[in-house]
Amino acid sequence: MLGLLRSPMKYLLLLTWLAAMLLTMISMRQLPSSNLPNSAKAFIRSGPNSLCDNAYVQTCRSSRVYTDLKTALEERASDDKVIIMSGMIEGEYLDLAINQHIRSVAPLKLCNMLYFISNESMIDRTQELNMPVLKVNTDFKNNEVGDFASAAFNEKSKVKLAMVYAVLQLGYKILIADLDVVFLKNPLDVVKSCGKDCDIAVQNNTNKQLNTGFLYSKPTPKSIAFYKKITEKMVDSKGHDQSVFNMVYKRNMVPGINIHVLPVDVACVGSFAEPRKCHVFHANFKKLLAPKIRILKQHGMWKADSRDVEEFLCR
Ligand SMILES: *[C@@H]1O[C@H](CO)[C@@H](O)[C@H](O)[C@H]1NC(C)=O
Ligand SMILES: *[C@@H]1O[C@H](CO)[C@@H](O)[C@H](O)[C@H]1NC(C)=O
Repeated sequence: MLGLLRSPMKYLLLLTWLAAMLLTMISMRQLPSSNLPNSAKAFIRSGPNSLCDNAYVQTCRSSRVYTDLKTALEERASDDKVIIMSGMIEGEYLDLAINQHIRSVAPLKLCNMLYFISNESMIDRTQELNMPVLKVNTDFKNNEVGDFASAAFNEKSKVKLAMVYAVLQLGYKILIADLDVVFLKNPLDVVKSCGKDCDIAVQNNTNKQLNTGFLYSKPTPKSIAFYKKITEKMVDSKGHDQSVFNMVYKRNMVPGINIHVLPVDVACVGSFAEPRKCHVFHANFKKLLAPKIRILKQHGMWKADSRDVEEFLCR
């Protein structure tokens, strides 16, 4: 080696070779994944030399797209059979889902998170961000993205409680959180107050309604009966999921069920004055996406700007 370096010409050659290697390595890292076919992207994300080096991937494994709920639960739920699910991702709400992932799920390393999505064309984006997703087949009459309480919203909101029912029937506990919910602490610690004999824990909407935006359910016979009732009532209801949930609750349609209402200063709704003190914050009471984003930004709970996303991308 030293003999080689004694000749300046050979020294120059070695330097050139090193520089070329370095350049090749840099350009490989920067190869945009959009230039690759999907099959190759999947390999790059999950292969032995995965370039996806954020801590969530290292702790929670590479994401996958599931088309079957049972398999998704078997692979994603925790050992004590708990799954955390998001609201259904659609349209511009993809940004809220990305925020939920980068702001809450990844830093808290919630490996038992599962997002769900019905629109095929958004799946690639979720995979670039290593979000485990369940693709559901739905046949909606209303194809547009719905604002709160619109016909489209009401129709789609019902998928959420039908999903809870399906998960419970498979024997898993489920915490479901709307996309505009930010976890400031581990959300499973928040629902511990549900206690041993409790069937369901739910957020208090402070307006005499319970809020299904943050909802924990155990697979007990009473909960299963409760969601069975809800799914039956939802068929004919033109209202949204939450109105049906509250109706079944208030009319005591499943006697003896133990529903724990979470304290409002822990699981906060949007009207709460000091969101920073909450363990969970729900940006509700805002009908449109822009005001939701504004309130989240205002409280330092927004991490889905292009710079944040860029840093998080798996290439
Ligand atoms: C699915 O998402 C794509 C891209 O965001 C959008 O153009 C399309 O309209 C969506 N389809 C439905 C059925 O919502
Ligand atoms: C829900 O919140 C309201 C307003 O803070 C409170 O008056 C009510 O008692 C709470 N309901 C339950 C069941 O905790």
